[in-house]
Amino acid sequence: MISVNVRLREWRDSDAPAVLDAFQAPDLRRQAAWPIITLKDARGWIASWEGAGHAFAVVIDGAGGERVVGNVAVTKIDTHDTGWVSYWVVPEARGRGIAVAATEKLVRWAFDERGLYRLELGHRTNNPASCRVATKAGFRPEGIERGKLRHDGVRYDVERHARLATD
Ligand SMILES: CC(C)(COP(=O)(O)OP(=O)(O)OC[C@H]1O[C@@H](n2cnc3c(N)ncnc32)[C@H](O)[C@@H]1OP(=O)(O)O)[C@@H](O)C(=O)NCCC(=O)NCCS
Repeated sequence: MISVNVRLREWRDSDAPAVLDAFQAPDLRRQAAWPIITLKDARGWIASWEGAGHAFAVVIDGAGGERVVGNVAVTKIDTHDTGWVSYWVVPEARGRGIAVAATEKLVRWAFDERGLYRLELGHRTNNPASCRVATKAGFRPEGIERGKLRHDGVRYDVERHARLATD
């Protein structure tokens, strides 16, 4: 696998075109809570992180400047210092270690700067790429949650993973 240097930074209003592009990928549509069809939707998606958790744009630097290639986030932070991790990468940038590298950076931020203790995530059992990202980023499997999700009338099992600050 080719590895690349990734950076995490805050999302900006001016990232709306990149967000709109990203959510045209069929397997990213469900990553947003509502359809992202217009630039206004994309701006709304960026603004929706305010107060909901910490989301970072994943960017890579190249000859033409920086390029937004994904998102990593910690949400649902509770009083037990636990948070919920999610990630996505645009199809054109996949298979280069970007999700793993970005998730590792998010983990370091969450433990070292945000002071969290436990980070959880879940992936459908038919999403092996996400399972691999979780495992490579140090999230141990903790079991299957049967029939947890329903998409288009079909139920999906979800595997829960977690990483502790002490792992
Ligand atoms: C899952 C996702 C984030 C991976 O992004 P990525 O940048 O391509 O991931 P990486 O390159 O860091 O690593 C992917 C790993 O998964 C593996 N992988 C990719 N597709 C796979 C598949 N179909 N089956 C098994 N492993 C697979 C890769 O080989 C790699 O592992 P390796 O380093 O051991 O070879 C990306 O595919 C995505 O955004 N998918 C749609 C959204 C999503 O599913 N998000 C997670 C929701 S829980």
